[in-house]
Amino acid sequence: MNKKVGIIYASMSGRNQRVAEYLQEKFAKLDQPTEINEVSQFDSQKLADYDGFVFVSYTYHDGQLPDESLDFFDDLQTIDLTGKCYALTGSSSIKHEHFGRALDYLDQQLNHLGALRATAILKIDLDADRADLARLDAFCQQFLDFMQLHQQQLV
Ligand SMILES: Cc1cc2nc3c(=O)[nH]c(=O)nc-3n(C[C@H](O)[C@H](O)[C@H](O)COP(=O)(O)O)c2cc1C
Repeated sequence: MNKKVGIIYASMSGRNQRVAEYLQEKFAKLDQPTEINEVSQFDSQKLADYDGFVFVSYTYHDGQLPDESLDFFDDLQTIDLTGKCYALTGSSSIKHEHFGRALDYLDQQLNHLGALRATAILKIDLDADRADLARLDAFCQQFLDFMQLHQQQLV
């Protein structure tokens, strides 16, 4: 059965959009088609159609979610996410006290709603360098491996 994977991203100055596009290319090389969506244009109810999704986001204000992600965050409570696989990554800045904390908030919420995190949260400092791209490659593979095991009811 073909898995359906969504990539949803929030990006103000472009870094996280580039990360999301990199993930899309990497998944394609792994024979996994994806749908890519900017968060403010995304109908959160579509999450129900995906077997899994990756959320890519920066952190803003003082360790908060970007404003344009708040509706998405609230809408999560209206969707049955039990057993849905997800992964979180994004570029933020280690110069800020709460590095990448938007991802931690999302993780807490998704975990609370019964979704399953497929791989460790991957935080990137500003522009992704070669090491980050290698980590993103492994992130994609781990995400797909986890989804497959989950479909076989092994996790
Ligand atoms: C006003 C402002 C507040 C920010 N606050 C945080 C923060 O609290 N934590 C953090 O990790 N990064 C913070 N950042 C850094 C951004 O998350 C970082 O620049 C990110 O790469 C932007 O991604 P984008 O290019 O996709 O918009 C802040 C940036 C700005 C301009």
